[in-house]
Amino acid sequence: MGHDVVVVGSVNADLVLQVDRRPLPGETVLGQDAVTLPGGKGANQAVAAARLGASVAMVGAVGTDAHAAVALDLLTSAGVDLTHVRTVDGPTGLAVVTLAGDGENSIVVVPGANAAVTPASVDAADAVLTGARVCVLQAEIPLGTVAHAARLAHDAGVRVLLNVAPATALRDDVVRLADPLVVNEHEAALLLGHPLDAGVEAAQGAAAELAGRGAASVVVTLGASGVVGHEHGAAWSWPAVPVEVRDTTGAGDAFVGALAAALAAGDPLRDAARFATRVAAASVTRLGAQPSYPWATDPLP
Ligand code: RIB
Repeated sequence: MGHDVVVVGSVNADLVLQVDRRPLPGETVLGQDAVTLPGGKGANQAVAAARLGASVAMVGAVGTDAHAAVALDLLTSAGVDLTHVRTVDGPTGLAVVTLAGDGENSIVVVPGANAAVTPASVDAADAVLTGARVCVLQAEIPLGTVAHAARLAHDAGVRVLLNVAPATALRDDVVRLADPLVVNEHEAALLLGHPLDAGVEAAQGAAAELAGRGAASVVVTLGASGVVGHEHGAAWSWPAVPVEVRDTTGAGDAFVGALAAALAAGDPLRDAARFATRVAAASVTRLGAQPSYPWATDPLP
């Protein structure tokens, strides 16, 4: 039996710096705390899906430094199949996350070992990739690898969930393989080549415009304003679930992981997106990305 979900993507250690406010250019501020947590958009999405009960395999790479163990810790405890996570000479991917008092973050990522996730890494995992129900991809590994994995999965009849995060200009022939394409407002604007007006209606217009590029379905996440989708010519939306925000880091990844798990279980996209909105809401109430993700038995907001 294949896995429910295969994630081809990044594995990072997140150095989280908690500050009252971010420094201005040239300024030094004192922080309250620093902690190193597992992260990386790909690994976050894999952990989110696995904690919700999906069987998940990860294709990626870590380095030979001490961060590798941190980065793999919660993937391991969530039961993610790490057979295709290679160890390569050099540093593990590192994200420096500056978390301000309002729960919003800014992130700098140094790819490290993630740059070694090549089309050959995908080919080495061919059986896992083509045997899964859903293949999840983001843009923190080389884009040629994303394109290769999307093509391989799509041609094998595996549903491709393409999350264009961080914001990246992906080729239309790759976008066309997505079902769904998942983006936030900034990522949608970059793909479309024009800024988006605020609000649900404008996001629905953007989703329809992206669907016009050939993606079978499109989901645009709007943070506190919820989520909109476009599929088979029809639009839908769900409001966000109101919660007290502690840390938004990795909330988008919680959404994507939950969406993948629900789609693999056979849920329609619209229902899967509603569930994923609740999982993302749960994640922002706690510190960090992976440590904040709910398990299948946890109550959701
Ligand atoms: O989406 C959040 C993630 O982005 C963090 O975990 C960090 O590693 C960066 O990849």
